[in-house]
Amino acid sequence: PVVAIVFGGRSSEHAVSCATAASVLRAIDRDRFDVVPIGIAQDGRWVLVADDPEPLQLTAQHTPSVQGETTALISTDPAAREVLIFPPDEPPRTLTAVDVVLPLLHGPFGEDGTLQGVLELADTRYVGSGVAASAVMMDKALMKVVFSAAGLPVGPHVVITDKEWRRDKAACLDSVSSLGLPVFVKPARAGSSVGVVKVDAADDLETAIETARVSDPKVLVEAAIPGREVECGVLEGHGAEAPRASQIGEITVTGDRHTFYDFEAKYLDDAAQLTCPADLPGDVADEIRALSVKAFDAAGCEGLARVDWFYDPGGRLMLNEINTMPGFTPQSMFPRVWAESGFDYPSLITELIELALE
Ligand code: DAL
Ligand code: MG
Repeated sequence: PVVAIVFGGRSSEHAVSCATAASVLRAIDRDRFDVVPIGIAQDGRWVLVADDPEPLQLTAQHTPSVQGETTALISTDPAAREVLIFPPDEPPRTLTAVDVVLPLLHGPFGEDGTLQGVLELADTRYVGSGVAASAVMMDKALMKVVFSAAGLPVGPHVVITDKEWRRDKAACLDSVSSLGLPVFVKPARAGSSVGVVKVDAADDLETAIETARVSDPKVLVEAAIPGREVECGVLEGHGAEAPRASQIGEITVTGDRHTFYDFEAKYLDDAAQLTCPADLPGDVADEIRALSVKAFDAAGCEGLARVDWFYDPGGRLMLNEINTMPGFTPQSMFPRVWAESGFDYPSLITELIELALE
Protein backbone atom coordinates (compact mmCIF):
# COMPACT_ATOMS: atom_id res chain seq x y z
CA PRO A 1 0.00 0.00 0.00
CA VAL A 2 0.96 3.62 -0.59
CA VAL A 3 1.08 5.54 2.69
CA ALA A 4 1.13 9.34 2.75
CA ILE A 5 2.82 10.57 5.89
CA VAL A 6 1.49 14.05 6.55
CA PHE A 7 3.28 16.19 9.11
CA GLY A 8 4.31 19.68 10.20
CA GLY A 9 1.21 21.81 10.05
CA ARG A 10 0.08 25.23 11.15
CA SER A 11 -0.02 24.68 14.91
CA SER A 12 2.55 25.57 17.54
CA GLU A 13 3.38 21.83 17.64
CA HIS A 14 4.74 21.99 14.06
CA ALA A 15 8.25 20.99 15.12
CA VAL A 16 7.02 18.21 17.41
CA SER A 17 5.11 16.78 14.47
CA CYS A 18 8.24 16.94 12.28
CA ALA A 19 10.21 15.07 14.96
CA THR A 20 7.49 12.43 15.08
CA ALA A 21 7.55 12.13 11.28
CA ALA A 22 11.35 11.79 11.24
CA SER A 23 11.09 8.79 13.57
CA VAL A 24 8.33 7.20 11.52
CA LEU A 25 10.23 7.71 8.24
CA ARG A 26 13.17 5.89 9.81
CA ALA A 27 11.17 2.98 11.17
CA ILE A 28 8.27 2.27 8.82
CA ASP A 29 8.44 -1.14 7.13
CA ARG A 30 9.64 -0.28 3.63
CA ASP A 31 9.10 -3.81 2.35
CA ARG A 32 5.44 -3.41 3.08
CA PHE A 33 4.66 0.24 2.45
CA ASP A 34 5.49 2.78 -0.24
CA VAL A 35 5.94 6.09 1.54
CA VAL A 36 4.97 9.55 0.28
CA PRO A 37 6.14 12.21 2.77
CA ILE A 38 4.01 15.36 2.66
CA GLY A 39 4.90 18.35 4.79
CA ILE A 40 2.36 21.03 5.67
CA ALA A 41 4.21 24.31 5.96
CA GLN A 42 3.29 26.89 8.56
CA ASP A 43 1.41 28.89 5.95
CA GLY A 44 -0.75 25.86 5.23
CA ARG A 45 0.81 24.83 1.92
CA TRP A 46 1.23 21.13 1.29
CA VAL A 47 4.72 20.31 0.06
CA LEU A 48 6.06 17.05 -1.22
CA VAL A 49 9.28 16.73 0.77
CA ALA A 50 12.34 14.54 0.54
CA ASP A 51 12.07 11.13 2.14
CA ASP A 52 14.77 12.12 4.62
CA PRO A 53 14.38 12.35 8.41
CA GLU A 54 17.60 14.30 8.90
CA PRO A 55 16.30 17.91 8.49
CA LEU A 56 13.25 17.24 10.67
CA GLN A 57 14.92 17.12 14.07
CA LEU A 58 13.48 19.17 16.90
CA THR A 59 16.00 21.44 18.63
CA ALA A 60 15.82 24.24 21.21
CA GLN A 61 15.45 26.65 18.31
CA HIS A 62 12.00 25.20 17.66
CA THR A 63 10.57 25.93 21.11
CA PRO A 64 7.37 27.87 20.48
CA SER A 65 7.43 31.48 21.65
CA VAL A 66 4.82 32.86 24.03
CA GLN A 67 3.01 33.89 20.85
CA GLY A 68 2.88 30.22 19.91
CA GLU A 69 5.21 30.73 16.97
CA THR A 70 7.82 28.13 16.21
CA THR A 71 10.58 28.03 13.65
CA ALA A 72 9.48 26.14 10.57
CA LEU A 73 11.05 22.83 9.71
CA ILE A 74 9.35 22.55 6.35
CA SER A 75 10.62 24.87 3.69
CA THR A 76 8.25 26.54 1.29
CA ASP A 77 11.12 27.38 -1.02
CA PRO A 78 9.55 27.70 -4.49
CA ALA A 79 12.06 25.11 -5.65
CA ALA A 80 10.31 22.57 -3.43
CA ARG A 81 7.55 20.79 -5.30
CA GLU A 82 4.18 21.89 -4.07
CA VAL A 83 1.43 19.37 -4.10
CA LEU A 84 -2.16 18.72 -3.36
CA ILE A 85 -4.93 20.75 -2.11
CA PHE A 86 -5.39 24.47 -2.15
CA PRO A 87 -2.05 25.92 -3.19
CA PRO A 88 -3.21 29.40 -4.18
CA ASP A 89 -1.52 29.51 -7.55
CA GLU A 90 -1.71 25.94 -8.81
CA PRO A 91 -4.50 23.62 -9.83
CA PRO A 92 -5.25 21.17 -7.03
CA ARG A 93 -3.96 17.66 -7.38
CA THR A 94 -5.57 14.69 -5.72
CA LEU A 95 -4.97 12.09 -3.07
CA THR A 96 -6.23 9.25 -5.22
CA ALA A 97 -2.83 7.59 -5.63
CA VAL A 98 -2.64 7.12 -1.88
CA ASP A 99 -4.13 4.11 -0.09
CA VAL A 100 -3.97 5.55 3.39
CA VAL A 101 -2.87 8.76 5.10
CA LEU A 102 -0.95 8.73 8.35
CA PRO A 103 -1.72 12.18 9.75
CA LEU A 104 1.16 12.73 12.15
CA LEU A 105 -0.08 16.18 13.12
CA HIS A 106 -0.44 17.56 16.60
CA GLY A 107 -2.66 20.43 17.64
CA PRO A 108 -5.10 22.60 15.71
CA PHE A 109 -5.30 22.16 11.92
CA GLY A 110 -4.40 18.49 11.98
CA GLU A 111 -5.28 16.73 15.21
CA ASP A 112 -8.57 18.61 15.52
CA GLY A 113 -10.72 17.12 12.78
CA THR A 114 -9.90 19.66 10.08
CA LEU A 115 -7.51 17.40 8.18
CA GLN A 116 -9.79 14.45 8.91
CA GLY A 117 -12.62 16.41 7.28
CA VAL A 118 -10.56 17.02 4.15
CA LEU A 119 -9.74 13.32 3.95
CA GLU A 120 -13.40 12.38 4.40
CA LEU A 121 -14.26 14.77 1.56
CA ALA A 122 -11.62 13.11 -0.60
CA ASP A 123 -12.85 9.63 0.44
CA THR A 124 -9.34 8.72 1.54
CA ARG A 125 -8.60 6.35 4.41
CA TYR A 126 -6.56 7.61 7.34
CA VAL A 127 -5.11 6.49 10.62
CA GLY A 128 -6.77 7.58 13.84
CA SER A 129 -9.93 9.27 15.00
CA GLY A 130 -12.56 10.79 12.75
CA VAL A 131 -13.79 14.35 12.55
CA ALA A 132 -15.97 14.56 15.64
CA ALA A 133 -13.71 12.74 18.12
CA SER A 134 -10.66 14.65 16.86
CA ALA A 135 -12.43 18.00 17.18
CA VAL A 136 -13.93 17.38 20.60
CA MET A 137 -10.74 15.85 22.06
CA MET A 138 -8.72 18.83 20.80
CA ASP A 139 -10.83 21.13 22.95
CA LYS A 140 -10.04 20.56 26.62
CA ALA A 141 -13.32 22.20 27.66
CA LEU A 142 -15.55 20.07 25.41
CA MET A 143 -13.50 16.99 26.32
CA LYS A 144 -14.49 17.43 29.96
CA VAL A 145 -18.16 17.67 29.02
CA VAL A 146 -17.94 14.28 27.28
CA PHE A 147 -16.00 12.67 30.14
CA SER A 148 -18.38 14.02 32.79
CA ALA A 149 -21.38 12.74 30.85
CA ALA A 150 -19.74 9.31 30.71
CA GLY A 151 -19.24 9.31 34.48
CA LEU A 152 -15.45 9.57 34.19
CA PRO A 153 -13.67 11.50 36.96
CA VAL A 154 -12.62 15.01 35.92
CA GLY A 155 -11.14 17.68 38.15
CA PRO A 156 -12.59 21.08 39.10
CA HIS A 157 -12.21 23.59 36.28
CA VAL A 158 -13.58 26.84 34.84
CA VAL A 159 -13.91 27.73 31.16
CA ILE A 160 -13.41 31.36 30.11
CA THR A 161 -14.64 32.13 26.63
CA ASP A 162 -13.35 35.04 24.59
CA LYS A 163 -16.56 37.04 25.00
CA GLU A 164 -16.77 36.42 28.74
CA TRP A 165 -13.23 37.72 29.19
CA ARG A 166 -13.75 40.76 27.02
CA ARG A 167 -17.07 41.54 28.73
CA ASP A 168 -16.01 41.26 32.38
CA LYS A 169 -12.51 40.21 33.45
CA ALA A 170 -13.30 40.75 37.13
CA ALA A 171 -16.22 38.31 36.96
CA CYS A 172 -14.01 35.75 35.19
CA LEU A 173 -11.28 36.08 37.81
CA ASP A 174 -13.90 35.78 40.50
CA SER A 175 -15.24 32.54 39.00
CA VAL A 176 -11.73 31.11 39.00
CA SER A 177 -11.21 31.90 42.69
CA SER A 178 -13.47 28.97 43.65
CA LEU A 179 -10.72 26.63 42.38
CA GLY A 180 -8.20 27.75 45.00
CA LEU A 181 -4.48 27.78 44.17
CA PRO A 182 -2.38 26.64 42.47
CA VAL A 183 -4.19 26.37 39.15
CA PHE A 184 -3.11 25.55 35.62
CA VAL A 185 -4.22 28.03 32.97
CA LYS A 186 -4.39 26.43 29.53
CA PRO A 187 -5.41 27.37 26.00
CA ALA A 188 -8.45 25.13 25.37
CA ARG A 189 -7.10 23.97 22.01
CA ALA A 190 -3.33 23.49 22.02
CA GLY A 191 -0.87 20.83 23.04
CA SER A 192 2.62 20.02 24.32
CA SER A 193 2.00 22.55 27.13
CA VAL A 194 2.35 25.49 24.74
CA GLY A 195 0.73 28.51 26.42
CA VAL A 196 0.17 26.65 29.71
CA VAL A 197 1.02 28.54 32.89
CA LYS A 198 1.01 27.26 36.46
CA VAL A 199 -0.28 29.99 38.78
CA ASP A 200 0.53 30.06 42.49
CA ALA A 201 -0.64 33.58 43.36
CA ALA A 202 -3.97 35.25 42.53
CA ASP A 203 -2.15 38.37 41.31
CA ASP A 204 -0.61 36.36 38.47
CA LEU A 205 -3.88 34.99 37.14
CA GLU A 206 -4.74 37.76 34.73
CA THR A 207 -1.35 37.65 33.01
CA ALA A 208 -1.55 33.87 32.75
CA ILE A 209 -4.98 34.06 31.15
CA GLU A 210 -3.68 36.63 28.66
CA THR A 211 -0.77 34.30 27.86
CA ALA A 212 -3.08 31.35 27.25
CA ARG A 213 -5.34 33.57 25.11
CA VAL A 214 -2.50 34.15 22.67
CA SER A 215 -2.70 30.47 21.70
CA ASP A 216 -6.49 30.25 21.97
CA PRO A 217 -9.05 32.87 23.05
CA LYS A 218 -10.91 30.03 24.78
CA VAL A 219 -9.17 29.30 28.08
CA LEU A 220 -9.48 26.55 30.63
CA VAL A 221 -8.43 27.00 34.25
CA GLU A 222 -7.96 23.79 36.20
CA ALA A 223 -7.34 23.20 39.89
CA ALA A 224 -3.91 21.57 40.23
CA ILE A 225 -4.34 17.89 41.03
CA PRO A 226 -1.65 16.65 43.39
CA GLY A 227 -0.34 13.25 42.52
CA ARG A 228 1.45 11.13 39.99
CA GLU A 229 1.08 11.57 36.22
CA VAL A 230 0.32 8.25 34.60
CA GLU A 231 -0.60 7.52 31.00
CA CYS A 232 -2.16 4.63 29.12
CA GLY A 233 -2.05 3.84 25.40
CA VAL A 234 -5.19 2.60 23.71
CA LEU A 235 -5.39 0.89 20.33
CA GLU A 236 -8.62 0.20 18.52
CA GLY A 237 -9.53 -3.49 18.28
CA HIS A 238 -9.63 -5.35 14.99
CA GLY A 239 -13.07 -5.99 13.54
CA ALA A 240 -15.63 -5.95 16.33
CA GLU A 241 -13.03 -6.50 19.06
CA ALA A 242 -12.86 -4.13 22.05
CA PRO A 243 -10.04 -1.55 22.27
CA ARG A 244 -6.74 -2.71 23.75
CA ALA A 245 -5.06 -0.89 26.62
CA SER A 246 -1.31 -0.87 27.20
CA GLN A 247 0.84 -1.12 30.28
CA ILE A 248 0.82 2.10 32.30
CA GLY A 249 3.63 4.64 31.91
CA GLU A 250 4.57 7.27 34.47
CA ILE A 251 6.19 10.69 34.08
CA THR A 252 8.37 12.17 36.74
CA VAL A 253 9.93 15.60 36.40
CA THR A 254 13.09 16.03 38.40
CA GLY A 255 15.33 18.99 39.21
CA ASP A 256 14.20 22.57 39.75
CA ARG A 257 14.19 23.82 36.17
CA HIS A 258 10.54 22.95 35.67
CA THR A 259 7.53 23.38 37.92
CA PHE A 260 5.55 21.00 35.71
CA TYR A 261 5.87 18.79 32.58
CA ASP A 262 6.28 21.77 30.24
CA PHE A 263 7.47 21.97 26.61
CA GLU A 264 11.18 21.91 27.43
CA ALA A 265 10.81 19.05 29.89
CA LYS A 266 8.82 17.18 27.25
CA TYR A 267 11.25 17.58 24.37
CA LEU A 268 14.44 19.40 25.10
CA ASP A 269 16.13 18.37 28.28
CA ASP A 270 16.44 15.32 30.45
CA ALA A 271 14.27 16.56 33.32
CA ALA A 272 11.38 14.24 32.49
CA GLN A 273 11.73 10.54 33.11
CA LEU A 274 9.36 8.07 31.56
CA THR A 275 8.91 4.79 33.41
CA CYS A 276 6.99 1.80 32.10
CA PRO A 277 5.46 -0.19 33.61
CA ALA A 278 4.75 2.28 36.40
CA ASP A 279 5.13 0.98 39.91
CA LEU A 280 1.42 0.70 40.75
CA PRO A 281 -0.68 -1.88 42.57
CA GLY A 282 -2.02 -4.34 39.99
CA ASP A 283 -5.64 -3.45 40.62
CA VAL A 284 -4.90 0.26 40.09
CA ALA A 285 -3.16 -0.44 36.78
CA ASP A 286 -6.13 -2.57 35.72
CA GLU A 287 -8.54 0.18 36.69
CA ILE A 288 -6.56 2.77 34.68
CA ARG A 289 -6.63 0.44 31.67
CA ALA A 290 -10.38 -0.17 31.96
CA LEU A 291 -11.17 3.53 32.44
CA SER A 292 -8.87 4.48 29.55
CA VAL A 293 -10.82 2.18 27.24
CA LYS A 294 -14.03 3.68 28.61
CA ALA A 295 -12.73 7.18 27.83
CA PHE A 296 -11.63 6.11 24.33
CA ASP A 297 -15.10 4.74 23.64
CA ALA A 298 -16.93 7.66 25.26
CA ALA A 299 -14.99 10.03 23.02
CA GLY A 300 -15.67 7.91 19.94
CA CYS A 301 -11.95 7.56 19.24
CA GLU A 302 -10.62 5.32 16.48
CA GLY A 303 -7.16 3.94 15.82
CA LEU A 304 -5.14 5.20 18.74
CA ALA A 305 -5.13 7.54 21.70
CA ARG A 306 -3.06 8.24 24.76
CA VAL A 307 -5.12 8.73 27.90
CA ASP A 308 -3.50 10.85 30.63
CA TRP A 309 -4.37 10.50 34.32
CA PHE A 310 -3.51 11.85 37.74
CA TYR A 311 -3.24 9.30 40.54
CA ASP A 312 -3.44 11.18 43.80
CA PRO A 313 -1.95 10.16 47.16
CA GLY A 314 -5.43 9.24 48.41
CA GLY A 315 -5.60 6.60 45.68
CA ARG A 316 -8.07 8.48 43.48
CA LEU A 317 -7.82 8.69 39.72
CA MET A 318 -8.59 11.87 37.80
CA LEU A 319 -8.75 11.97 34.01
CA ASN A 320 -6.54 14.74 32.64
CA GLU A 321 -6.98 14.38 28.89
CA ILE A 322 -6.95 12.30 25.74
CA ASN A 323 -4.57 12.95 22.86
CA THR A 324 -5.84 11.54 19.59
CA MET A 325 -2.41 11.84 17.93
CA PRO A 326 0.07 11.53 20.78
CA GLY A 327 3.78 12.27 20.38
CA PHE A 328 5.25 9.41 18.43
CA THR A 329 9.01 9.36 18.57
CA PRO A 330 10.49 6.14 19.98
CA GLN A 331 11.17 8.07 23.22
CA SER A 332 7.58 9.29 23.44
CA MET A 333 5.22 7.73 25.93
CA PHE A 334 2.78 6.14 23.46
CA PRO A 335 5.39 3.98 21.68
CA ARG A 336 7.09 3.31 25.01
CA VAL A 337 3.99 1.85 26.65
CA TRP A 338 3.29 -0.27 23.57
CA ALA A 339 6.87 -1.48 23.47
CA GLU A 340 6.07 -2.97 26.90
CA SER A 341 2.78 -4.33 25.61
CA GLY A 342 3.68 -6.36 22.55
CA PHE A 343 4.38 -3.86 19.76
CA ASP A 344 7.86 -2.60 19.02
CA TYR A 345 8.03 0.75 17.20
CA PRO A 346 7.97 -0.51 13.59
CA SER A 347 5.20 -3.02 14.28
CA LEU A 348 3.13 -0.34 16.05
CA ILE A 349 3.25 1.75 12.85
CA THR A 350 2.23 -1.30 10.81
CA GLU A 351 -0.61 -2.06 13.21
CA LEU A 352 -1.99 1.48 12.97
CA ILE A 353 -1.90 1.46 9.18
CA GLU A 354 -3.53 -1.96 9.03
CA LEU A 355 -6.32 -0.83 11.34
CA ALA A 356 -6.96 2.10 9.00
CA LEU A 357 -7.02 -0.18 5.95
CA GLU A 358 -9.55 -2.63 7.47
N1 DAL B 1 0.49 16.89 22.16
C1 DAL B 1 1.63 16.02 22.29
C2 DAL B 1 2.25 15.73 20.98
C3 DAL B 1 1.29 14.77 23.01
O1 DAL B 1 0.23 14.71 23.54
O2 DAL B 1 2.10 13.86 23.03
MG1 MG C 1 -2.29 17.46 24.53
